[in-house]
Amino acid sequence: MRSHYCGQLNESFLEQEVTLCGWVHRRRDHGGVIFVDLRDRAGLVQIVFDPAVAQAFATAEKVRNEYVLQVKGHIRYRPEGTQNLDMPTGKIEVAGMQLEILNIAETPPFQLDETTVHEETRLRYRYIDLRRPSMQARFQLRAQVNRIVRNYLDDNGFLEIETPMLTKATPEGARDYLVPSRTHQGHFFALPQSPQLFKQLLMMSGMDRYYQIVRCFRDEDLRADRQPEFTQLDIEMSFIDESSLRDLMENMIRHLFKTTLAIDLPNPFPVMSYETAINLYGSDKPDLRNPLQLTDVADLVKDVEFKVFSAPANDQKGRVAALRVPQGKELSRKQIDDYTDFVAIYGAKGLAYIKINDISAGREGLQSPILKFLPDDAIQGILERTKASDGDVIFFGADKAKVVTEALGALRLKIGEDLKMVQQGWQPLWVIDFPMFEWDEKENRWFSLHHPFTAPNVADIATLETNPGACASRAYDMVLNGSEIGGGSIRIHNPEMQAAVFRLLSIGEEEAREKFGFLLDALKYGCPPHGGIAFGLDRLVMLMSGATSIRDVIAFPKTQTASCPLTSAPSIASEAQLRELGIRVKPKLN
Ligand code: AMO
Ligand code: AMP
Repeated sequence: MRSHYCGQLNESFLEQEVTLCGWVHRRRDHGGVIFVDLRDRAGLVQIVFDPAVAQAFATAEKVRNEYVLQVKGHIRYRPEGTQNLDMPTGKIEVAGMQLEILNIAETPPFQLDETTVHEETRLRYRYIDLRRPSMQARFQLRAQVNRIVRNYLDDNGFLEIETPMLTKATPEGARDYLVPSRTHQGHFFALPQSPQLFKQLLMMSGMDRYYQIVRCFRDEDLRADRQPEFTQLDIEMSFIDESSLRDLMENMIRHLFKTTLAIDLPNPFPVMSYETAINLYGSDKPDLRNPLQLTDVADLVKDVEFKVFSAPANDQKGRVAALRVPQGKELSRKQIDDYTDFVAIYGAKGLAYIKINDISAGREGLQSPILKFLPDDAIQGILERTKASDGDVIFFGADKAKVVTEALGALRLKIGEDLKMVQQGWQPLWVIDFPMFEWDEKENRWFSLHHPFTAPNVADIATLETNPGACASRAYDMVLNGSEIGGGSIRIHNPEMQAAVFRLLSIGEEEAREKFGFLLDALKYGCPPHGGIAFGLDRLVMLMSGATSIRDVIAFPKTQTASCPLTSAPSIASEAQLRELGIRVKPKLN
């Protein structure tokens, strides 16, 4: 039906006859002639209908926004002075000779160039929303990303293998989506939180290198970078150690950025330990574009009378840290109060600060509500260690380590944004040496920081069991501009070690058998050393396309409350369906 895409046309097509199909982006009547901007996947082109071409002109008078047209015409230069150099097709126009209305459209619920449309409305009419040129560009990029990673992995000997969607729970830390079984009433499938266990089984099957672009399902609290169903680029390899695996993966990401965005990412990516990331950035996914850093000062305030500082400084689980903001002196009282409220979200009970007016003037040159509580040597030590100079402000967090880390980590990001300190560009890194376990105070037991199949950094079970809290894992995360875009690990391939880890996680033998018996069995029949990684493809494309929400790179995403305004899913099931499944729904409690 067409010879070219609208957005593809330019002066190299001058004088040619073209047939175009697309949507009416805009129609303007101008002193006798009618202009139509016709839009398709490739972009817009201006079509001019002259009254001299009577049939086409008469039809053009009837068209409205979002009508679907087929146009025949020839390409000519736009008249002098009317060229639009901001538009790829802006030097030329199509002189319309024939016009057919292929379909009419009701007035759309919003204009495509409207920027303030409520997201609920955008999602309800997603098929219209997706017509926006910015959305089209994102999905073209997404398809390109898929193609490039597939080619890269194919070239490196990976097999694309599918794993089940109706399966058993895989623990990745979220709630499962359950699907009732009709043939086994009272039993449920779980939708996979990830293909973790299947990809490990594929290594035991000798597949050697596996990948899959795969949907994962997690019933968890949604945020701007989280969806209940999302896509992983999931990868597993046999006979590999972490450094070779990381090399291959960062090479892929470098290649991806080079081919899609013409960006050279660093080679190699920096590698940072979890401990350094927490100490300097208050986060296990540090945004290195932000120059602000935390400084630990507990040892300097151990003996001060100010209990707010000295108590956590003397507590094993406490932390006292400073965040120096260069030239932060200009922050007003009100701004500092706002930051105090901000850190309270993370449980901080206050936000002490020192403003440095004139460092050479000693105490006189400083301004702070806590100055009177601190002796000279503590102040001197803090100024030296934070490398403070005139005009700076130093903020303090003093509390349980977790509170200080989270509060100052978040404050660091916020101030970096507010004071426009975040540099342009791309800052990838690997974070490694994660702790194997995290102690949960409430439940009084260890949890895996990654997942229970991650190998510990120690070879023998006795060492692991003696001090689980001190043990690091062989996990790695890839972080880009403060976002965790991928995570993985070398796995446990020894059944005794796997059983020991389950024990440490308080997963009893019976429970382990019931949940993961198939894995424990498989480990006994010749399991190769193996490891892998999964990238959050949606997150990656979101960053690459400059989108601020993961929903902008998913064609039909869910809302914040995990529903779909387009299809009205989830919806109630019929009595007959429920009966077949042996399910009775309790009346809703209010
Ligand atoms: P993990 O749980 O870290 O690892 O997930 C891998 C990557 O998936 C992305 N991601 C998400 N993206 C959007 N919405 C979500 N709800 C969501 N949850 C996670 C993140 C994350 O880095 N099986 C392991 C991988 C492995 O060990 O190989 C796993 O799933 O970008
Ligand atoms: P107070 O003694 O409660 O008046 O606090 C004195 C100063 O210390 C105020 O600026 C508080 O904001 C700050 N402050 C109080 N608790 C903490 C804390 N846990 N961490 C950092 N600063 C705090």
